[in-house]
Amino acid sequence: MSKIKTIGVLTSGGDAPGMNAAIRAVVRAGINAGFKVVGIQRGYAGLIKGDIVEMNLRSVSDIIHRGGTILKTARCPEFTTEEGLKKAASMANVFGIDAVVVIGGDGSYRGARDLSKYDVPVIGMPGTIDNDIGCTEYTIGYDTALNTVLDAIDKIKDTAYSHERCTVLEVMGRQAGYIALNVAIAGGAEVVLLPEKSFDMDKDIVKPIIEGRNRGKKDYSVIVAEGVGGVIEISEEIQEKTGIEARYTILGHIQRGGSPTVYDRVMASRMGGKAIEALKEGRVNRVICLQSNKLVDIDIDEGLETKKSIDLSQLELFKVLSL
Ligand code: ADP
Ligand code: F6P
Repeated sequence: MSKIKTIGVLTSGGDAPGMNAAIRAVVRAGINAGFKVVGIQRGYAGLIKGDIVEMNLRSVSDIIHRGGTILKTARCPEFTTEEGLKKAASMANVFGIDAVVVIGGDGSYRGARDLSKYDVPVIGMPGTIDNDIGCTEYTIGYDTALNTVLDAIDKIKDTAYSHERCTVLEVMGRQAGYIALNVAIAGGAEVVLLPEKSFDMDKDIVKPIIEGRNRGKKDYSVIVAEGVGGVIEISEEIQEKTGIEARYTILGHIQRGGSPTVYDRVMASRMGGKAIEALKEGRVNRVICLQSNKLVDIDIDEGLETKKSIDLSQLELFKVLSL
């Protein structure tokens, strides 16, 4: 049985739609399970400063449909130092926090693991639009971001169609191409460039566009993951080499906002419930993962060691479907 009485919850790193639903689930399931729940504001920076407020059932009313995070989020370089970690652990002690639920990405998980070494038990919940945490098939915010990007692609396609242009669209994903690959498939793009795969301008971009034109295409979209970079140059080179007018768009932070989709709300709620279940049963230093479509909690070190890689074979199907 668990000796944990008070749980802190925080959001850290890049925000993601569904983080509010996750906070709500942790607070309500936590209180229902008999825990006192406190909200730590501004991620690890708030833990160091003691920026901590008690949460009740009503603190999380009317937030399930809202993007962003009511607890705010931050990046905290100080937390990566021994001194910062000691300050954070000491503040957890001041507030009587027996365990911290960290909702964030891979970096936040590393921070959580480090904090656990200072006798502050942790649970990690995956929250990032990039879907790039190795141990889980899903991260909160990904589905909403995909739908936001797809909506933008559909709109840009209308104008590209009218002007018979090529659109070059940069989508988020500094290290991982999950967003790029999936919106390229769903949006009917002609070309997709991923950080996981190098590309050749002539073979991978100019050739499919020209061949598409020769088969009767009139407008084209090229999806570029942020980690690939160079959208402006790519767009200029396409225009120069193909003679087709090209326009670039960098979608940016619009991808991080907005009301979470059903999938994100449900997944965030279930993951929050799972985090509380683990704490109730005394399992700490765990991360919540979707594995083989089931929610599980696994050891945080094991979670951090697990790698996943994008299924590049999907590019073959993508090419066929973009003919
Ligand atoms: P995300 O969680 O979205 O990947 P970051 O990588 O920005 O976002 O990490 C969020 C915070 O987690 C950082 O500001 C830092 O405080 C902490 N963190 C990140 N990487 C590490 C690390 N390698 N070791 C310890 N703490 C880290
Ligand atoms: O982690 C999500 C993410 O959106 C990345 O794809 C992107 O590179 C990064 O965050 C940008 O974050 P920020 O502008 O907040 O530094």
